[in-house]
Amino acid sequence: MKRTFVVGAVVLALVLAGALAASAAPTYIGAVKCKMCHKVQYDSWVAVGKHSKALEGAKASKTPAYDASCLSCHATDKNEASVGVECEACHGLGSDYKAMSVMKDHAKSVAAGLVVQDQKACDRCHDGKDHHKKVDFAANKATVHEHKAK
Ligand code: HEC
Ligand code: HEC
Ligand code: HEC
Ligand code: HEC
Repeated sequence: MKRTFVVGAVVLALVLAGALAASAAPTYIGAVKCKMCHKVQYDSWVAVGKHSKALEGAKASKTPAYDASCLSCHATDKNEASVGVECEACHGLGSDYKAMSVMKDHAKSVAAGLVVQDQKACDRCHDGKDHHKKVDFAANKATVHEHKAK
């Protein structure tokens, strides 16, 4: 009887720890927060338009008709209040890597949720199904926004 109680308490503790870890997952902060430090990328992402206006485009669509299923690719974090495919839709949700001390360190940034850009990162939305045409990463990576001179 006592043993069952102890096992039960351990299981409960594990479940609570799991819930805490889940609630600590990175969250959406919005493109305007990234702009403070990355104005070149922000301004050019707005000017290029294809990703920054992606939600507007989906909302205006008749075929297919707009519904909540569009948000996974035409918005950020499935959030209808986002303006479209924002920085964090590609680079990962920013709450945990946005601090200067983390951002300056590539390994720390990745550990805090920064997504490394590669073909796979584009394939999440450009999956080759329905109207979601494949896009070649190498040929298009420089077109999504301007890049800081290296
Ligand atoms: C407080 C300033 C600051 C904020 C806010 C900030 N960054 Fe950064 N970020 C930096 C600095 C500094 C670097 C490192 C130098 C560089 O590449 O410009 C960096 C680097 C990066 C890199 C290259 C990282 C690598 O290691 O490959 C990406 C991508 C990036 N930031 C995206 C973002 C996104 C997206 C946001 C918003 C969610 C954001 N940053 C918010 C300062 C910031
Ligand atoms: C799995 C990801 C995904 C989902 C879900 C998705 N889209 Fe798209 N959509 C894309 C991609 C990627 C493109 C860009 C394709 C290209 O031109 O290369 C796109 C392009 C479009 C375009 C522009 C097409 C053009 O001719 O310029 C419209 C309009 C559109 N989607 C509407 C919608 C609507 C409405 C929904 C929801 C019913 C939806 N999409 C769901 C990924 C998606
Ligand atoms: C979160 C989903 C998402 C991700 C990730 C994403 N895209 Fe897109 N992309 C879209 C959507 C949606 C559109 C279409 C917007 C519209 O026309 O309304 C689009 C449009 C484009 C277009 C314009 C296509 C055309 O026919 O005009 C290019 C080029 C493009 N994306 C390149 C990329 C590259 C390169 C990557 C990876 C580095 C990438 N995208 C990652 C959702 C995404
Ligand atoms: C459609 C996906 C996509 C979106 C949206 C996007 N980026 Fe990027 N970003 C990339 C790619 C691809 C690279 C280049 C990676 C490489 O060269 O390997 C990049 C590189 C960067 C870098 C590294 C430095 C540089 O200029 O190359 C920073 C910083 C950055 N992005 C910030 C942002 C910010 C801020 C936003 C929003 C205003 C944003 N990105 C929106 C895909 C995206």
